Amino acid sequence: MRDIEIAPSILAADFGYLMRDIQAVESNAEYLHIDVMDGHYVNNISFGIPVIQSIRKYTGMKFYTHLMITEPEKYIKAFADAGSDNITFHIECAKDPDKLIEEIKALGLSAGISVHPDTPIEKVFPYIGKVDIILVMTVYPGFGGQGYLPSSDARIRALKKAIDEAGSDTVISVDGGVTRDNIKEIYDAGARLFVAGSTVFNDKDPAKAIEDLIRCCTLS
Ligand code: DX5
Ligand code: ZN
Repeated sequence: MRDIEIAPSILAADFGYLMRDIQAVESNAEYLHIDVMDGHYVNNISFGIPVIQSIRKYTGMKFYTHLMITEPEKYIKAFADAGSDNITFHIECAKDPDKLIEEIKALGLSAGISVHPDTPIEKVFPYIGKVDIILVMTVYPGFGGQGYLPSSDARIRALKKAIDEAGSDTVISVDGGVTRDNIKEIYDAGARLFVAGSTVFNDKDPAKAIEDLIRCCTLS
């Protein structure tokens, strides 16, 4: 991973032209963010295993699979087999997060844990150093195109402090409402892996949108 990485979220892509949209971002992003929603944990249904299997054949991007599903433990193997490189589950949904992290890693994948905006950020502190990524939701999970929750900055800062104190290299990722206008403040708070859906795929030039987002982080 580079110092600053944008993970385009295909939730904002045109599913009728999915590979065209993925190819538009391939050269500027290492990770493709894949939002799986089950209609239980969140009030929306997106897509699942067969779609991941299909796109796996046509791109070498790393699949950063965000499971917004209840009972994630039931499906880890299936999402690994479908071609995920990272599996990120919600702390609110996991019966035994430690066990799940071990299972994901035993399958040779990187592991992430995600935290809902209404869950105290301290709940993920025990997993610092155990997971590769902590995904801080910066909107209410379920839909793309929402506004960044301003309370997120303080949550990211608190998490960054805890990671630094632990001397860990766990990466802070954020998901939801990331734009050219706010990415710098989120970067300054400590995030390094930015999920961006609408900002990338609603742009007529998705590759340039990614370049812009990265550049915005380093502006003084
Ligand atoms: C929301 C999803 C996000 C979503 C982000 O539940 O987890 O990944 O695609 O979309 P934007 O960037 O449009 O907020
Ligand atoms: Zn997501």
